[in-house]
Amino acid sequence: METNEAPMRPAGPRERLIVALDFPTREEAFRLVDDLGDAVTWYKIGMELFYAEGPKVVQDLRARGKRVFLDLKLHDIPNTMAGAVRSIGRLGVGLLTVHAPAGAEALAACASAAREVGQGADRPQLIGVTRLTSLAAPNPDRPWDDVVALAGTAVEAGLDGWVAPVQAASPLRAAHGSSPILVCPGIRLPDGDVGDQVSVGTPEGAVSGGADWIVVGRPITRADEPKAQAERIVTRMLHGCGDGAP
Ligand code: C5P
Repeated sequence: METNEAPMRPAGPRERLIVALDFPTREEAFRLVDDLGDAVTWYKIGMELFYAEGPKVVQDLRARGKRVFLDLKLHDIPNTMAGAVRSIGRLGVGLLTVHAPAGAEALAACASAAREVGQGADRPQLIGVTRLTSLAAPNPDRPWDDVVALAGTAVEAGLDGWVAPVQAASPLRAAHGSSPILVCPGIRLPDGDVGDQVSVGTPEGAVSGGADWIVVGRPITRADEPKAQAERIVTRMLHGCGDGAP
């Protein structure tokens, strides 16, 4: 799909951080949002919170002046995916995930549907999930070939960019250039607990590899001092390494 629109980018260094609200209730989610205050602008709402609380949780976050990445990872037949994008488009989300393996036809249907609901920054930017960061490479000798190929299909179909592990950032930029949006989850500080993630990287590693946004869940949501941790992560993205770096 041909488009003249430039993809949306983070407005500043703080806006590169997306905090994943992986909570079962709005009370827990908004307690964290209140704690983080103006340190964080972008939040990711995933299946756990959305299926429990519904679209209102998106609208309430927007009402607080926050930006929303709705991570519902759509994957279905083209007509159903496009319908879902139209419904979601009315909620005012900034970023929305679809599964890139859904295929070129389904991705193109989603891209058209997104452009029906708005133009430029007023429509959801569609990003394709290439490979989940909890999965190992299917071919360890050429670990990013599958991700790079899926990413090519996604942008050719009219998607705005991708979600991909930090280690895929450089291969993706080398293969497909700097224009598509790149969002990297699986972020950990050097001494952090990896949990169920297989492909992890640091905030500064993600940005230097070419990520526009990073998604951080447990390293912030389970921190003793979430706001200080969020500020540490933003500093690391700005200066390479937050602690003592110039
Ligand atoms: O807690 P943690 O920082 O590992 O959370 C990462 C978040 O990013 C989770 O909400 C997860 O669903 C999401 N995500 C991911 N890998 C992808 C896409 C999204 O980990 N490929």
